[in-house]
Amino acid sequence: TRQPTTDDKFSFGLWTVGWTGTDPFGLPTRPTLAPWEYTERLAELGVWGITFHDNDVFPFDADDATKERNLARLKAATDRCGLTVEMVTTNTFTHPVFKDGGLTANDRSIRRFGLRKILRAVDLAAQVGATTFVMWGGREGSEYDGSKDIFAAFERYKEGLDTVAGYIKSQGYDLRIALEPKPNEPRGDIFLPTVGHALALIAELEHGDIVGLNPETGHEQMANLNYTHALGQALWSGKLFHIDLNGQRGLKYDQDLVFGHGDLVSAFFTVDLLENGFPSYPDGPRYTGPRHFDYKPARTEHLTGVWESAKACMATYLMLADKARAFRADSRVQEAMAYSGVLDLAQPTLEDGESIEAFLHIDDGFDPDKAAERDFGFVRLQQLALEHLIG
Ligand code: GCO
Ligand code: MN
Ligand code: MN
Ligand code: MN
Repeated sequence: TRQPTTDDKFSFGLWTVGWTGTDPFGLPTRPTLAPWEYTERLAELGVWGITFHDNDVFPFDADDATKERNLARLKAATDRCGLTVEMVTTNTFTHPVFKDGGLTANDRSIRRFGLRKILRAVDLAAQVGATTFVMWGGREGSEYDGSKDIFAAFERYKEGLDTVAGYIKSQGYDLRIALEPKPNEPRGDIFLPTVGHALALIAELEHGDIVGLNPETGHEQMANLNYTHALGQALWSGKLFHIDLNGQRGLKYDQDLVFGHGDLVSAFFTVDLLENGFPSYPDGPRYTGPRHFDYKPARTEHLTGVWESAKACMATYLMLADKARAFRADSRVQEAMAYSGVLDLAQPTLEDGESIEAFLHIDDGFDPDKAAERDFGFVRLQQLALEHLIG
């Protein structure tokens, strides 16, 4: 595969390559580096952008001077190697104060503190020139159903999101919020468990026009859902603002594997959608944002393995992009798609201006038994995808 370039718009969270391997059962397996120690290496690999949480750059209890000093140091490092800070997010999950959530904690004083922390991170995002502000409410949720008034929780979630979105508008920041759904972990049940739940909440917001989604591969798959469908519906809704690509193998803890190291066939169709768009809509909605990876380098690996895994995310993406392009260009695939009726679904079911009355009473001689004889040939189409993927 070719080397990634900045045109590929690959980006990485500082917390991904920076993960030291701490998990609920074990201590770190790798040393902690300063945030600015990752930038040069990432740029060398062909990475275009980085993202971070406020507390990836300065400690939770940092004073203003420390915050500014660390930020300036990081900004100098990214400027030196030409990296873009494309997204910023807030850590409202690590400190024990957030054990019952930030925006939806039962304790109002904690909600006020959480909201203020998020608003400060919005200022920070604007200051470093990010265009997306991710909100992953990992601690917004519960372990016990009796512990939350769900109606109130959604009232407070809405209040929090509208406050943040309204603030972005009032400050004139060029920023959009991207909600990141996840079904569980760290809470037993997280609010906004899936893309669909998040879309439904956005529809209730006052400032929902600047609120969209940041779907993560493994998070939809942890809910046994189809990530590519989630991306597709978010695109259809005009809400695919950002993406977190990684890998997950089935229903278990959040693995955050290298992209493609989970469900490879699903990853192929994810890249096919991102690179080629919807088959029937060449001019239809496309995702043009960063190809952002949110993964964890396995804790079995040395620091060299961190860079290997970052390279692997990008190389896998590029290999799949080549294969997805070849798949769409293959005349056998185009014939198989036509045979399968894939391109017929774009045709409206009713005639333009057709009256429902006429439609209800029309006798077009449709014979359900005859229509039921139709073959769809989806298996052949899928096998052609496999041929391109592994043939
Ligand atoms: C996860 C999440 C988080 C968020 C990140 C941004 O793996 O549960 O992906 O990593 O993406 O914290 O807020
Ligand atoms: Mn994850
Ligand atoms: Mn994520
Ligand atoms: Mn993650």
